[in-house]
Formats: sequence, C-alpha cells, structure tokens
Amino acid sequence: MGKIEEYRKDFDILNNSDYIYFDNAATSQRPNQVIEAIADFYRTSNANPLRGLYDWSMAATEKYEDARRVVADFIGGVKPEEIIFTRNTSESLNLVAYSYGLDNVSEGDEIVISVMEHHSNMLPWQMVCKKKNAKLVYLEPDEEGVITKEEYESKITDKTKILAIGHVSNVMGVTNPVKEMAAYAKSKGAVVVVDGAQSTPHMKVDVKELGADFFAFSGHKMLGPMGIGVLYGREELLEKMSPFLMGGEMIEYVTRTDATYAELPHKFEAGTVNASGAVGLAEAIRYLQKVGFEAIEAQEQKLTALLMEGMSKLPYIKIYGSKDPKKHCGIVTFTIEGVHPHDISSVLNDDRVCIRAGHHCAQPLMQFIGAGSTARASLYFYNTEEEVRVFLDKLANVREVMGYGA
Ligand code: ALA
Repeated sequence: MGKIEEYRKDFDILNNSDYIYFDNAATSQRPNQVIEAIADFYRTSNANPLRGLYDWSMAATEKYEDARRVVADFIGGVKPEEIIFTRNTSESLNLVAYSYGLDNVSEGDEIVISVMEHHSNMLPWQMVCKKKNAKLVYLEPDEEGVITKEEYESKITDKTKILAIGHVSNVMGVTNPVKEMAAYAKSKGAVVVVDGAQSTPHMKVDVKELGADFFAFSGHKMLGPMGIGVLYGREELLEKMSPFLMGGEMIEYVTRTDATYAELPHKFEAGTVNASGAVGLAEAIRYLQKVGFEAIEAQEQKLTALLMEGMSKLPYIKIYGSKDPKKHCGIVTFTIEGVHPHDISSVLNDDRVCIRAGHHCAQPLMQFIGAGSTARASLYFYNTEEEVRVFLDKLANVREVMGYGA
C-alpha cells in the first residue's frame, strides 16, 4: 500500500460501508479531521462571530478570520480582504454577475462563456445579458473537449466585457487553457471570471498566475462542509462594487433612509456568517496540503487510466472527452448503448455503487454533444484500484440486467 492509500482510513463513511463512492464531482466525502474541526468549533467557541465583545464571540471571530487567511494562502497568497465567504460556487458567481456584471455591461457588449459551463456559470450571465441587452457568446470545444486558441481568439473581441470560464469541466473533465484565455481576454480589456469548483479539489491553483480577476469555488467538493463557498476578487474591483446582499454586519452606519457599507470583505458577507463552515474548509485545505496535490493528481490519473482502459473493452460504452486519462481530472462521462443513464445509475446502486446520471447541470453541453443525458463516474484520491475493478465488473452486468443478452 502506498502512502496515499493510507489516507483512506480517515474517511469513516467509506470504511464503515461497502458502497463504492464514484460521485466525487458532485460532492466529496470529508475526513474525520474536518468533521472534528467543525464539532470542536461548536463545542469550544460557539457564539455569533464579528459582533460580541466577549470571549466566545471573539474566539469565533478569530477562527473565522484565521480560516480566511488559510483560504487566501491556498489560492496563491492573495490578501485576506480579497476572500469573500459565500454559500457555494453558485452564490459566488451570482455575486459577480449582480454586483459587477449589471453595473459594467451595457447594451451591445458581449459576455463570453463556453458551452461546457455548469448552469452556475451560465444562468447568471444569461440574466445579465437579458437585463442589459448584451450578447452572450459561446465558446465550443472540439471532440476532445478542448477550446482551441483559434476558437477563443475568434470570439473574444473588443466587445467582450467579461470572460467567464470553468477551470475544469464537470462533464468532460477537461482543464481549460484558462491562463492563455485570460491573457488574451485582458488584452481586449475584459474582466476574467473563473469557476474553480472542479479544479480546487484536484490541483494547485494560483489565481494571480491564472490571470483571474474573480475565482469561485465550493468547500464541499474539496473535503470541506456543504454551505461554505469562496469568491476571490481583485481588491480594486471589489472596492468599486456594490454589495450583493444587504443586512446585518455588512454596514458601517445606517440611518432611516441610507447606509454606508463595511470595508472589504465584510461588505459582501451579510447576516450571520457560516463560521463553522469556514473552519471546516480551512481544515480541509490543511488536509489536502498534507496529502499534496502531486500525490493526488498521480493517484487520480492512475485510477482513471485503469477505469478508462476497462471501460474501453466494453464495445457498447461511449466515453466523452479526451482519450487520454490524464486529461479527465478523475471524471469519466459515458453512455451505454440502449440503456438510459438513470437506469445505469439505478442498476449500479443495487450493486452498491454511487455515480451521477442526468444532465449534470450542463444541459447546453448535453445538447452540444448530442446526448440527452449521460452517466458520470468521478474519482478522488481516496478511491482504490480494487474499487475500480469492482466497478468495472458491475458495469459489465448493466446491459444484462436491462434485458440484453450476455
Ligand atoms: N456540480 C456538481 C456536479 O457536477 C453538483 O455534479
């Protein structure tokens, strides 16, 4: 057993059952250390942060702000004020669309996204374009899921005000050339928004190196709790933006008719914050750093190669995206000829295997690849070769269960 396999012992949910969990792109599992950190917050320092002038509240504030510093370091050493805690990637992207998009996009302008976007990085921009009479321009990938230089250079123009692009596709698993695209978009004067929901769990991210003006991600896909997300924004841009949500603790001074707003980052964090979520996320980051992204990527690539090799032996299976397992970020989206993806998932569930089936919150991509829906197996570093082998065995039975000859 290699070192990376040893981390599996920290995941009780995986060890205390015989389920094979291959739906990690939807949400990851959490190690005991993260669960303990959350429990410890409530056991030892629970009070409403940022308000009370007594020890418990100050301890809660300290833990919350510590977590912000951990996140700021994690994405490349940005300023803690540039880290806004949200509920999830969707809320982070909505924040940018409402607070930046509506004020900076005008009639005739263009917003460029790709057809591979998750609805979270699509619907907010549809909303901005509808309200402002702007045009939403779609980048399209080639067969392998790659957005070529020719494609983005032909669609990002002087009219582009925002490029909003997923770092890793939740369906194709492909890593987009965000750094190159961002540099090109900036040369045209556009602001760059990156949806990092599927990249932060798997690779080292440096938002400045990527050229992201905004970068959004969720805690729950990277060993953290549900209900905590992050928006990184460049300070200069965040300073000029209006608050997204109004209410408690995001103000400086309020009269009956008006208000002035708090400094960054609190201007964007209305209401009681998810301090335990932030604490859990910080612990998740510490855990990921302990495992190390090099080891995580190597393990995922090894498992994905085994998985794709086995699947390619079944002639009725179609795998979407690149043929190279290294380019899948642990995500393998597929169909089985003659079997609806929901049936694939149900049959596998009877065999205690969890995968996702459906449109994966990416309906325009499903239309683009000509599939109503697909099945998706998504791996994480704590999965094992044995699980892949069992999965392949079960997968080979699906058509038979659905009434096809063996
Ligand atoms: N965005 C998550 C997924 O791709 C829910 O499954």
